Amino acid sequence: MSPFLLTRTLPVDATEASLRADVLAGLSRRPRTLPPKWFYDTRGSELFEEITRLPEYYPTRAEREILVAHAADIATASGARTLIELGSGSSEKTRHLLDALPRLHSYVPVDVSESALTGAAEALLAERPELNVHALIADFTGGLALPGTPGPRLVAFLGGTIGNLLPEERATFLRSVRSILSPGDALLLGTDLVKEPATLVAAYDDASGVTAAFNKNVLEVVNRALDADFDPADFDHVARWDSDAEWIEMRLRARSALTVKIHELDLVVSFEEGEELRTEVSAKFRRDRVREELGDAGLRLDQWWTDTAGRFAVSLATAV
Ligand code: AVJ
Repeated sequence: MSPFLLTRTLPVDATEASLRADVLAGLSRRPRTLPPKWFYDTRGSELFEEITRLPEYYPTRAEREILVAHAADIATASGARTLIELGSGSSEKTRHLLDALPRLHSYVPVDVSESALTGAAEALLAERPELNVHALIADFTGGLALPGTPGPRLVAFLGGTIGNLLPEERATFLRSVRSILSPGDALLLGTDLVKEPATLVAAYDDASGVTAAFNKNVLEVVNRALDADFDPADFDHVARWDSDAEWIEMRLRARSALTVKIHELDLVVSFEEGEELRTEVSAKFRRDRVREELGDAGLRLDQWWTDTAGRFAVSLATAV
């Protein structure tokens, strides 16, 4: 049995400090915003799992179809001996990849959630006892200190989560990924694609209201962490396609004029009737944009796979 190592590069109190800073910055100016990373407490993570099973939410199924169809191609093209997965969560979608990489020496899942990391590692080691699992509790949007495992390295960033970053944040993020790769190492990137707005809006505003509950849950996260008094029932869930920016926005719209106290920040925030708080941007891509943004970061797009319906893409890019 090989060792399971867990390294924390994120101070235990970093989460609370960065939530405070984000809430203060995002709620004390207009338009009001909150970053999407705060959706994922235990309840939010459960709701997201539920979203991935909704008939309207196609990205998870589409990406799985691609990974199943091309796991062997990815393995051959990358020759990876170390797989680093950013935002690994339950590592469920990586399983197909791991199964196709028999020469793999080390798996390095990176996540901010310690419970997700240990749970996933245990399940994995039961199946692949020879694999070295070195889990990192880290915020991958900062820099990463990686263990000295053998190359070639393959970094996987799946699920379309890169769409949560704004264009400038994406550029910074891709450059930081490039900085942990040597020439010949690769990035495997999942991106949702631009399509019919009605399909996109339905995926973020499902008929059963799970996405609405997921969106409103961020208010409960702020209530609990910062002793605030948001009433989620005071807000409506809004999903809107921005055709210029080519992204979906999720917002929470105040049903009436109201004020919210955030006790821990000594902050009172007022909302006018109909005023919206933006809680998420989920950018959708075209191949040319992916190629260009990768290129700007020193990564060359080598392979581009989509699902049969052409809704989602997985790219393999090599560090040059
Ligand atoms: C986990 C960021 C990929 O943007 O589609 C799902 C999150 N938000 N429904 C996405 C989400 C609303 C999801 N990502």
